[in-house]
Amino acid sequence: MSTVEDLPTPALLVDVDRLGRNLDRMAKALAGKGIALRPHVKTSKCWEVVRRQLDSGAIGMTCSTPAEVAWLKGKGVPDLLWAHVPVGPRKVEFAVATARDGGLTIALDSVEAALALSGKGVTVPFVLEVDTGHGRLGVRPERAVEVASAIAALPGLELRGVLTHEGHVGAAPDRAALERAGTEAGHTLVRTADALRAAGHDVSIVSIGSTPGATTAPFVPGITEARPGTYAYFDANQVRIGSCTLDDCALTVLARVVSRRPDGTAIIDAGVKAMSSDTIGVTGFVGRVVGPVPGDGEIGFPEANEEHGFLRGPGAAALRVGDLVRIVPNNACGTTNMWSHVYPVSGAEVLGDWPVAARY
Ligand SMILES: Cc1ncc(COP(=O)(O)O)c(C=O)c1O
Repeated sequence: MSTVEDLPTPALLVDVDRLGRNLDRMAKALAGKGIALRPHVKTSKCWEVVRRQLDSGAIGMTCSTPAEVAWLKGKGVPDLLWAHVPVGPRKVEFAVATARDGGLTIALDSVEAALALSGKGVTVPFVLEVDTGHGRLGVRPERAVEVASAIAALPGLELRGVLTHEGHVGAAPDRAALERAGTEAGHTLVRTADALRAAGHDVSIVSIGSTPGATTAPFVPGITEARPGTYAYFDANQVRIGSCTLDDCALTVLARVVSRRPDGTAIIDAGVKAMSSDTIGVTGFVGRVVGPVPGDGEIGFPEANEEHGFLRGPGAAALRVGDLVRIVPNNACGTTNMWSHVYPVSGAEVLGDWPVAARY
């Protein structure tokens, strides 16, 4: 039996017991309520995780990049949603070729992007992306009928429904406000779907998706599917906004103390190339040190270079060269993308070595 002690550091670990609980909880929350689960693959990019998601009832997967779409298509996943607008000749060519094979729905939010996909002798199913407050992709709800109608009138483009990513709810000042924002995003999307139906469109997909919004938005009557991604692993950002507890976090970076500073700082062999630098500016830390923990919060991780991390605080002073620490990243999805493989673990036991695919 191999244990985490035997692993080279830094290493990315996924706790399979926590992963299983997280997947199970989401599948059970949606099951029997008419809400399909289509998880976002960007969080794991790992077939062993996707397989578990499909086994526990997911109807298909959500993707961001052509690499994710191509990889999952090659794996035979039947129903893929590419929730990013395919713009530029290579992405357009890829979207058309993949649509020709079937099993792919894309997202669109402009006639300009749609024009490049039109008239290619193939039907390209699309959902209209709607901005319910995130301020990234998507048309504002009041323009949805106009834009969807213009795109659907183009040869080869077939409207299937609407989609939103309500990621902005995570920025709410407290959990109650976050939940209100999630419900509001759900209602906005359902109202938009109803307006499209009233304008004569067939709208079968009403798709909402984020981990912070997952406890509220999918349960608004009229929503047909949820696309959470981070829920598989959770992370320190989700702990901060109350989506989970630290004990739910399945993804950790394993690192070793490689040196000590006279001021009590412990230097570890994991920096931003192991953790990603996501949201350090928001949280004030690179990740949360969870083991060995002499008391939660006693080892801080405020700073990192590329391959060096600086652990400070009373707990850090007790660490010795060679000690192992485990760190929950701020953003599981960003951290996954830094790695080509992840070690599945149960407690301290290492169960294998899973490839991370489609990293770009
Ligand atoms: C379009 C889309 N859908 C779903 C998700 C999943 O959200 P989360 O990572 O909060 O679960 C994302 C995340 O960025 C996204 O961009």
